[in-house]
Amino acid sequence: MKQSLIKLCLVFAAVVLLAVPQVSQAKELKGDLEIFSWWAGDEGPALEALIDIYKAQNPGVNVINAAVTGGSGVNARAVLKTRMLGGEPPDSFQVHAGQELIGTWVKSDRMEDLTPIFKEEGWMDVFPAGLVKLIGTDKGIWSVPVNVHRSNVLWCIPANLKKWGVEAPKTWEDFLKIAPKLQKEGIVPLALGQNWTASHLWESVALSSLGAEKWADLWSGKLKFNSPEMIKVWELFGKILPYTNKDAASLSWQQATDMIIDGRAAFNIMGDWAAGYMVTTKKLAPGKDFGWMPSPGTSGEFMFLADSFGLPKGVANRDNAVAWLKLLGSKKGSDTFNPIKGSISARKDTDLSKYNAYLQSAAKDFAKDAVAASLIHGAAANETFVGSFAQVMEMFLKSKNAKATAMACQQLADKAQIGK
Ligand code: GAL
Repeated sequence: MKQSLIKLCLVFAAVVLLAVPQVSQAKELKGDLEIFSWWAGDEGPALEALIDIYKAQNPGVNVINAAVTGGSGVNARAVLKTRMLGGEPPDSFQVHAGQELIGTWVKSDRMEDLTPIFKEEGWMDVFPAGLVKLIGTDKGIWSVPVNVHRSNVLWCIPANLKKWGVEAPKTWEDFLKIAPKLQKEGIVPLALGQNWTASHLWESVALSSLGAEKWADLWSGKLKFNSPEMIKVWELFGKILPYTNKDAASLSWQQATDMIIDGRAAFNIMGDWAAGYMVTTKKLAPGKDFGWMPSPGTSGEFMFLADSFGLPKGVANRDNAVAWLKLLGSKKGSDTFNPIKGSISARKDTDLSKYNAYLQSAAKDFAKDAVAASLIHGAAANETFVGSFAQVMEMFLKSKNAKATAMACQQLADKAQIGK
């Protein structure tokens, strides 16, 4: 009896000993994780910092950083489309919160509902309700937000402005007064880059002309793109363009930022990834080496966008992707990524002491300003609209015809079913 009891205990101990490594083995992730984004080169350091954490947490996983270079995802989105439609989705991909996600990949039923992860991780209370709404539908939550970026920011080098005897313009009227003087001295008043950066400038101009409420009316279908208000927007935009550089079409957004850093241009309007670039890559100090303010005429308004990552249906390495998403939404992940990226955390419990002076001011503004959705960065309109808006912009850049462009824009809005 005693002996059989001892035997039983030994068998039990063996089972327990065998079971323990099995449990931990089951938790250890293996295989690949392919992360798809457009954060390559100068845009890469924040993503790489996250990947480093992931690798430390999951040493068995081989991370493939499949970044396709090109600001605002102009090239990456086309590659993503081919892969998604070809049935070869990356394990997780970058997508803007809002219509870029909902109106494209969710609509075509290509994404997994992440609600269980949100509940498990306690994210329902951690992310602002407005943001969760933007990445969700009545059928689920479709991506994990990693940041909040501001689109309507004017950047400058205060020391240069002082040298040139100009002040940063608070309105477009102010700008149009000082621009000819700068131009006469051989300084480009407003640095501009390739097509999408013209659209980026345009959305700031539109916001200043319309205000946040009417801007929202545009996307809900209440305000027509061919209305007198919108013709006025194109007219104002047309007055600003002569004060930009002639080689804009061939420059990346970083090269346009370089123009102000090098003192070839006075101002640049770009999202606050430019702050990330100036701090992380160029090692400039916010407030000292470079300055910022809301783009002319948009004080009190925060043109918003958020990057997020989703989980396509049928990916090759689902468990590895889920672990990636959990890291992205975590406090540690967020507060590692954002100070490098030049964005503020999408979480409500962010540790602001880790953020620089620019980002602290952005967080303050985000809490009090009227929030408007960015067009060119996927928050306001679907892919059909944003993709073809490049052609509308090209048409205006060539023709400078405000009325004809406004008409073309309305045709596009009809085709893309904006506000429907
Ligand atoms: C935006 C994106 C930012 C930044 C920028 C420039 O669309 O949300 O994170 O990458 O493009 O490429």
